[in-house]
Amino acid sequence: MSYPFQIKSYEQYKEVYKQNVDQPEEFWGDIAGQFVWRKKWDKVLEWDFKKPDVKWFINGKLNITENCLDRHLDKIGDTPAFVWEPNGRDEAHKVFTYKELHFKVSQFAHVLKNNGVKKGDRVCLYMGMVPELPIAMLACARIGAIHSVIFGGFSAQSISDRLQDAHVEYIVTGDGAFRGGKDIPLKNVIDDALVTCPFVKRVIVYVRTQAPISMIKDRDVWWTDEVKKVEAQGNPVVAAEEMDAEDPLFILYTSGSTGKPKGVVHSSAGYMVYTTYSFVNVFQYEPGDIHFCTADIGWITGHTYIVYSVLCAGGTSLMYEGLPTWPDAGRLWDIVDKHKVNIIYTAPTAIRSLMAYGLTPIEGKDLSSLKVLGTVGEPINEEAWHWYDEHIGKKRCPIVDTWFQTETAGILISNLAGVTPAKPSYATLPLPGIQLVLVDEQGKEITGNDVSGNLCIRFPWPSIIRTTWGDHERCRLNYFATYDDMYFTGDGCYRDADGFYRITGRVDDVLNVSGHRIGTAEVENAINMHTGVLESAVVGYPHELKGQGIYAYVIMDGMPENKQLAQADIAQTVARIIGPIARPDKIQFVTGLPKTRSGKIMRRILRKIAEGEMANLGDTSTLLDPGVVNDIKDGRV
Ligand code: PRX
Repeated sequence: MSYPFQIKSYEQYKEVYKQNVDQPEEFWGDIAGQFVWRKKWDKVLEWDFKKPDVKWFINGKLNITENCLDRHLDKIGDTPAFVWEPNGRDEAHKVFTYKELHFKVSQFAHVLKNNGVKKGDRVCLYMGMVPELPIAMLACARIGAIHSVIFGGFSAQSISDRLQDAHVEYIVTGDGAFRGGKDIPLKNVIDDALVTCPFVKRVIVYVRTQAPISMIKDRDVWWTDEVKKVEAQGNPVVAAEEMDAEDPLFILYTSGSTGKPKGVVHSSAGYMVYTTYSFVNVFQYEPGDIHFCTADIGWITGHTYIVYSVLCAGGTSLMYEGLPTWPDAGRLWDIVDKHKVNIIYTAPTAIRSLMAYGLTPIEGKDLSSLKVLGTVGEPINEEAWHWYDEHIGKKRCPIVDTWFQTETAGILISNLAGVTPAKPSYATLPLPGIQLVLVDEQGKEITGNDVSGNLCIRFPWPSIIRTTWGDHERCRLNYFATYDDMYFTGDGCYRDADGFYRITGRVDDVLNVSGHRIGTAEVENAINMHTGVLESAVVGYPHELKGQGIYAYVIMDGMPENKQLAQADIAQTVARIIGPIARPDKIQFVTGLPKTRSGKIMRRILRKIAEGEMANLGDTSTLLDPGVVNDIKDGRV
């Protein structure tokens, strides 16, 4: 494959950017023309941010899996689509060529059909990082079912909420998952979730860890048995279902400022076109490159940059089952050495935790195959950026700091590797098609350079969120109602004197812990479910490794006798209700919270105390009971 839309110089970037602003429809129509369609679109774009209603490639018909798989079979059918590296060093890796992947996807699509899954049905995938996860995703897409992947770290309660929200009747899971030194009991968690979801008709179980699990008659079936049935049917190829450009491809839940996660919905065509465009340009992917994204497929980064965009581009995606620091901090660099990885894409949190182990884990590892390094998910501090540059890239690999969100599906702000300038801790410049605006609290545009504001986008791009599942008004209120005729990202941003963008973090009540998005309201709801808790308030604070840590202020019905045990119990409740990623790092028992006379908690004060900035708490005169602040300061943990 060649990529006619790959930008090759800074000058060209500027031209292409302008071209897109001037004629966005012609621009995206040309790019979309590089893909395989069953029927061409009638019109490129219709949009109205007020509703919001955004449609791309109207009346175009396609199936994304024909773009990911079928169209590659003749030319690069024997090229690896996936290289899978297992959790431990002693197990052999696996390679799936495009032909093999096509076969497996078709086979599992048949399994889904045999089990009653139809176009438009929602299928929950709760699996570890095994190749069967992307196979199941693609099999859903093949038959037009909508997948909802749930990260393997979420609890039964979180799964149940998501299954109910999208009325999911089909689940694909594993007996368990290996992640570092842990075996995650996936099926047990699903069993617990299903106590409250009697509408689930079928659970297909892939065996990975051989953990003992329950299998309920008439509901649970084994992946391998189902595959055998398809083999007995002669492995008929499942033709891809014809999908409308705007048919939903998947739902992915993410946290917002309310207590309930929202199901972000992405379409088929727009998602495919934009994400592939971003992949080829940001990473400057060349055919044959080995692309290693260390994210979990349970997050948007994994969906887009392990699975769909890489396969659409005919690339080779390396997928790793385990953790960067297990069994030791040399694991990632072994993988780079062993598979001659060309592009590595990871989170600042991973870089910071690897930095903490020093340089010994890198010694003796041949990293000379690397061409491009990437980061995503949170602001990268300069120290981590320079460590990555010096010790991993050996100062010869451009670093792309890529900014995006579950809602944007693909990278919107990033330098293009080696093509446009990099700047430590800056996402730098928007991709063509992305019209950024900084606004003040009133929504007034802040023009000029060396300015900060709330980050908005004024024109749709093909992979913009279409709706939040089952609640379109929520989508409008969350993203399109804060400022007129603009998509609001929820992030604060600085534009420097040269016009480069630096993301400064969330401006809403959303935390970014180790690159994972967690709503403070969600954590508060979970804490409040703990026995004896009367009220709580959760804020973020700077954490050396995680970027942000979770600090919880908790009012109990009487101060606990054993504070340590009570803290551990509350943390356990949160892990049970949401999942271990939301476990608070610090819990302080307080007798009151700083509230205004109207009862609103002044989080600004709580944030400052959590950050240790006790001296300058600002104006506290509007508080109902200013005395409470001193007590909180004194009890800081
Ligand atoms: O605050 C921004 C931060 O992560 C948020 C999106 O989280 P999520 O939807 O889970 O997707 C994470 C993976 C794309 C953003 O609103 N964020 C993401 N990338 C960066 C970032 N913050 C700073 N720099 C980045 N490169």
